[in-house]
Amino acid sequence: FKLLVINGPNLNMLGKREPEKYGSHTLSEIMSELTTFADGLDVELTHFQSNSEQALIERIHSAWRAIDYIIINPAAFTHTSVALRDALLAVDIPFFEVHLTNVHAREAFRHHSYFSDVAQGVICGLGAMGYRAALEAAVNRLQNAN
Ligand code: DQA
Repeated sequence: FKLLVINGPNLNMLGKREPEKYGSHTLSEIMSELTTFADGLDVELTHFQSNSEQALIERIHSAWRAIDYIIINPAAFTHTSVALRDALLAVDIPFFEVHLTNVHAREAFRHHSYFSDVAQGVICGLGAMGYRAALEAAVNRLQNAN
């Protein structure tokens, strides 16, 4: 299976950014660990991070008919981006939404997501482990679909 992990704005700052909330690991540490985990599951994992809404939209477009499942942490765009939501609907690729923190325990503006009602599942508050859980669940979904 081909899986794409997408991380939105400021997630390139993991490790430096509010470590009490987001932990001390960098994004590249988290993604290289995830790649090792994916290798064991026979999954081809691609990772893309951008701070730009346009670049994220274009990466989703190029996943059309090329990617089986998407795991996305839209970061701040979670709460703002109809365009990113529409891009995921346009390519018609099932996806899981992941957040490191429990967004529901934070500021009110983080309680609404433009993605959750069209996601196959949502994980929040598990830290980096959320990506692993999403990956395992995605593989499970894909295996049961075939
Ligand atoms: C986040 C939560 C968002 O509210 C925030 O803007 C982020 C990260 C998370 O992973 O917990 O940048 O998506």
